[in-house]
Amino acid sequence: MNMFGLTIKTEAQEPLFTSERTDDIFGYTIIFGALSLFMANLNINSKRLNQTLLNLGRIGSTPQGMQRLAFTQYDIDARDMTLSLMRSAGLHTRIDPAGNIIARKEGTSSDLAAITLGSHIDTVPNGGKYDGALGVMGAIEVAQTLEETQTKLRHPLEIAVFTNEEGTRFKRWLFGSRAMAGLLQSDDETAADDEGIPMSSRLADIGGNMLQISKAPRQVSEISAYFELHIEQGPELHQSGVPIGVVTGITGRWVYGVEIIGVANHAGTTPMSGRQDALVSASQLVLAVQRMASDLEICRVGTVGNIQSYTNAANVIPGRISLGVEFRDVDMNCLAAADQELRKLANQIEQKDRVTITITQFENTESVQIKPTMQNLVEQAANLTGLSHKRLPSGAGHDAQAMANITDTAMIFVPSVNGISHAPEEYSNPEDCSNGTQVLLNLLMLADERLRNN
Ligand code: GLV
Ligand code: MN
Ligand code: MN
Repeated sequence: MNMFGLTIKTEAQEPLFTSERTDDIFGYTIIFGALSLFMANLNINSKRLNQTLLNLGRIGSTPQGMQRLAFTQYDIDARDMTLSLMRSAGLHTRIDPAGNIIARKEGTSSDLAAITLGSHIDTVPNGGKYDGALGVMGAIEVAQTLEETQTKLRHPLEIAVFTNEEGTRFKRWLFGSRAMAGLLQSDDETAADDEGIPMSSRLADIGGNMLQISKAPRQVSEISAYFELHIEQGPELHQSGVPIGVVTGITGRWVYGVEIIGVANHAGTTPMSGRQDALVSASQLVLAVQRMASDLEICRVGTVGNIQSYTNAANVIPGRISLGVEFRDVDMNCLAAADQELRKLANQIEQKDRVTITITQFENTESVQIKPTMQNLVEQAANLTGLSHKRLPSGAGHDAQAMANITDTAMIFVPSVNGISHAPEEYSNPEDCSNGTQVLLNLLMLADERLRNN
């Protein structure tokens, strides 16, 4: 059972490596021993990593929190800083049609596919400095360490910075990673923001090209594995005092726009009995979403995180309200049940309040299970780093979830102080950020040694 009260089904173990580690494979034990001795000398620079994180955290920082939403000038400035760090780490950089930054260094074996590290640097409104940023700055620190120590990998190394992971702009989350994984749908290409500005024009601002978007997907044969370091964004590691989380699976997420149309009228003259107040109906739906997850336990969590009143004046009865609703669960059947319940309750409110409710589904993201072989590899990397670890599922969504469509993925979590994230108080202490980055480096070294040829 996991913290969601669900048992995650695990797949049958697949042979992932050229030779699985067992004590009776003599030759392999020697290789493993040699590798761990070598890795003992390969240490990331903790001071530099944390300074880089601080520097990135200044871009888009306001008293209300981070405002580095995708495609904003803050995002563009942060991308520039990231590109220059990547080049200093000896990587060759390019921007793909989805605006993803892809940095690469060739390996010594020309027949091997890349091992990709990545995450995102966009934030939610009033967000924190670590969500996504740690994965990107950690990956660059890993590349810089390899560069300084002249350490050659067999596989090409890639670092991906994915466009619009948060999806606050254009309601198209995981945009860059879905593009790379071949998961975009036609409405992704025609998306516009609330002011009607098409995403294609914003994409051009960051060097992408919507007309070329069909060239963004990578082939399965191009990437051997994808690894993402991330803050946990929940309380489990912080509460248990365990420094490293080994992610077992990533939640599914269904997101809706709900529009409620009533009748706008004068707040002073319209009798209470005759009103069709869209905000009163919306309030009932907000409570219904909360009850669906907390009391009825139809799915793990349900949230109304966004509300807009189009008149928004104290002396006008609200005639039009829009809500942003989401449900999350690793069990997709629970999300289907939540969808049905939402529509049923909306229908009841419509009848009772004489309003019209339109429900549009914006996102339908599948949950992902991380292969046991990949979880084992993260555990071995943590053991080599001398750090304790625990397995846990992710209640947040990640680019790794899209990348799982085209390659084996693994995720490393580090503690979030008090479990706070998507808020200005989001914080992971420097030691935990360094620990996670060292595990990422060790994971990369293990995978470079052990992943079979593609
Ligand atoms: C991404 O940050 C999410 O909303 O889980
Ligand atoms: Mn994130
Ligand atoms: Mn986030």
